[in-house]
Amino acid sequence: SSSNIVNIVEVGPRDGLQNEKGSVIPVHLKAELINRLVQAGVTNVEAGSFVSPKWVPQMAGTADVLKQKTTAPGVHYAVLVPNHRGLDDLLSLLSSSSQPSQSPPLTDEISIFTAATDAFTRANLNCSTSESLSRLSPVARTALDNNLRVRGYVSVVIACPYTGKVDYKRVREVAKELLEMGCYEVSLGDTVGQGTPFEIQEMIEEVSKDIPVSKLAGHFHDTYGTAVANVLAALNSGIRTIDSSVGGLGGCPYSPGATGNVATEDVLYALQNSPYTVAGTANGTIDLNQMADIGWWISEKLGRDSVSRVGRALRAR
Ligand code: HMG
Ligand code: MG
Repeated sequence: SSSNIVNIVEVGPRDGLQNEKGSVIPVHLKAELINRLVQAGVTNVEAGSFVSPKWVPQMAGTADVLKQKTTAPGVHYAVLVPNHRGLDDLLSLLSSSSQPSQSPPLTDEISIFTAATDAFTRANLNCSTSESLSRLSPVARTALDNNLRVRGYVSVVIACPYTGKVDYKRVREVAKELLEMGCYEVSLGDTVGQGTPFEIQEMIEEVSKDIPVSKLAGHFHDTYGTAVANVLAALNSGIRTIDSSVGGLGGCPYSPGATGNVATEDVLYALQNSPYTVAGTANGTIDLNQMADIGWWISEKLGRDSVSRVGRALRAR
């Protein structure tokens, strides 16, 4: 029997903001978003990425975001890196940023990513999946040698925007390789947001033939409106870590038409009065009302309404 504690990985500042068109969101706003999320009880937040600014212009200021945010003890501020260059840049930032010796480092975690299809990996990383795994293995090793935790992602676990239906066996193989190179957890991404709850269950069943479900996380985009249902399906299958994005922000630049992640406030709402407790530091959890307010705050800064259904419902009351 598994625990009823659910962990949230808040990916809004990275997955949420990476796809914003138009002008680059100012560093101070990104840092304030991260600080507000942590105040609302979030303990795992993806703060940004060290990727090529030619590929993803919105993430260009991540080094400054890391320096400007408050670094709260016990909070993991993960940084997504696509290659060794991204990790090297992060490590030099960590060694050059002068902080009092007692204070926690700016970050203690990276995320690395690949996909279940070659077509998607080519679009996202400009190489095949097996090439990406060979490139990521030394990245993981160097990160671990430098006392960073490493989290892995497999994208397009249900459907690929370029090649359609995905073979869940391939998801299992890729996830296994990421764990073998030292990832403490692998997050399974329905990048397109096309999955249904029964497909999610079938996919997790296949992946967990080889991998303890405690090492898996669910990462669901909400394009077809099934993301909350998919979270419940993942919990039913034994997964206890869910990636979500405040205000339902986001999308992947290389997945045309895909919308944001499941909204964090929608997940919190759906798990009220349930056997589950969401872990966090605001009275032992993450504060639903604060998250809904943050969803509105950041959406309004981006010039639109919150797309979280719960955020909208709470505001209309
Ligand atoms: P490439 O063009 O093959 O690489 O791209 P390159 O080595 O030829 O480098 C191209 C240029 O980028 C060079 O600059 C490099 O110096 C520079 P130039 O000489 O042209 O001036 N460069 C870098 N700059 C900063 N940081 C770096 C870096 N590396 C190279 N780390 C590359 C290969 C991996 C760089 C590129 O494909 C890339 O950056 N990809 C990242 C794409 C990305 O960020 N996607 C979104 C995140 S993944 C996601 O959203 C899915 C997820 O949410 C889960 C899900 O939903 O499924 C995680
Ligand atoms: Mg994503």
